[in-house]
Amino acid sequence: MTISKIGILTGGGDCPGLNAVIRGVVKSAIIRHDWQVIGIEDGFDGLLKLDKCRPLTLESVRGILPRGGTILGTTNRGNPFDYPVERDGKITRVDLSGRVVENIRTLGIEALIAVGGEGSLKIALDLAKKGVPVVGVPKTIDNDLRETDFTFGYNTALETATDALDKLHTTAESHHRVMILEVMGRYAGWIALESGIAGGADVILIPEIPFHLEPICAAVKKRSARGSHFSIVVAAEGAFPAGGDRVVAKEADERHSIERLGGIGQYVARQIEQCLEMDVRVTVLGHLQRGGSPTTFDRALGSRLGTKAVQMVAAGEFGRMACLKGRRITSVPIAEATRELKLVDPEGEIVRTAEDLGIVMGR
Ligand code: F6P
Repeated sequence: MTISKIGILTGGGDCPGLNAVIRGVVKSAIIRHDWQVIGIEDGFDGLLKLDKCRPLTLESVRGILPRGGTILGTTNRGNPFDYPVERDGKITRVDLSGRVVENIRTLGIEALIAVGGEGSLKIALDLAKKGVPVVGVPKTIDNDLRETDFTFGYNTALETATDALDKLHTTAESHHRVMILEVMGRYAGWIALESGIAGGADVILIPEIPFHLEPICAAVKKRSARGSHFSIVVAAEGAFPAGGDRVVAKEADERHSIERLGGIGQYVARQIEQCLEMDVRVTVLGHLQRGGSPTTFDRALGSRLGTKAVQMVAAGEFGRMACLKGRRITSVPIAEATRELKLVDPEGEIVRTAEDLGIVMGR
């Protein structure tokens, strides 16, 4: 099949490095193949309306490499196969995927590059099943996508979290306090674990290891007894106590299919204050982790994945996702990558490293 026009969209939560991917796609599609590139705004939502699609040129991507976010916009709501629409004052869910396929045809898009996390790539796969030639590019700061060693954005998020830990250290030490840093990580604790190790945390709490309070309090006490009258705790937003639940900031509703997490830091703070007479403060790092200029690693990875996606389109490798294995960029079936999430192994090498360093994992 000869290609002359491709489309690109970015879906799910934004992430530093998305613009590097867009630039990689646009530059290689134009420079190598002389293809036209259509930028689709706001993820798959942009394929529901024709006016949300615009041509991307070399000028459109000039200067975007160091910029966070995505020039195309994104959304982590609204799956076209299960789309919330208001009817008679009530929200109902309808399948609008037929309209998406029709619009792709109307626009003359012969292949679609979908940059996204697990949710967006599953939508891409469902479109592939409807006959749309799709290539996926993995994205998430959480680094929880299978079949790729790293996702771009993760490295930048780690830098932000580690920098926050460095800053919390000095104030914790000055005030003899326990400082808790709540970081992102709904199902996977990669950010908490690796920033915690890099930032010298004393306690790391991740969703993969339900925590107990006793070892946390014992660790803080032990440090005080040794003369270190402060401690640093990193908690992934999805961490939860053994036998308990994740802390939900906002329940799911008709428009938001998953609940918003948040509050585990405050929960742990209250518990520590009850077992120890120490001042505890909580910092929620939140969306700062998703913002900012991508690190060198993420710019390079994003550029490599973007150009690889174009190579895959040229080779007709559809239904697959570009990925990083070791030092090599290669590709895997999207179905494999989205089969289940890549979680931290509680008995794996990185957790072992943390525990060998004396970091308490709440068990
Ligand atoms: O990108 C994934 C993630 O960072 C999760 O860790 C977090 O739960 C979610 O995004 C929050 O997204 P938002 O606030 O944009 O809905």
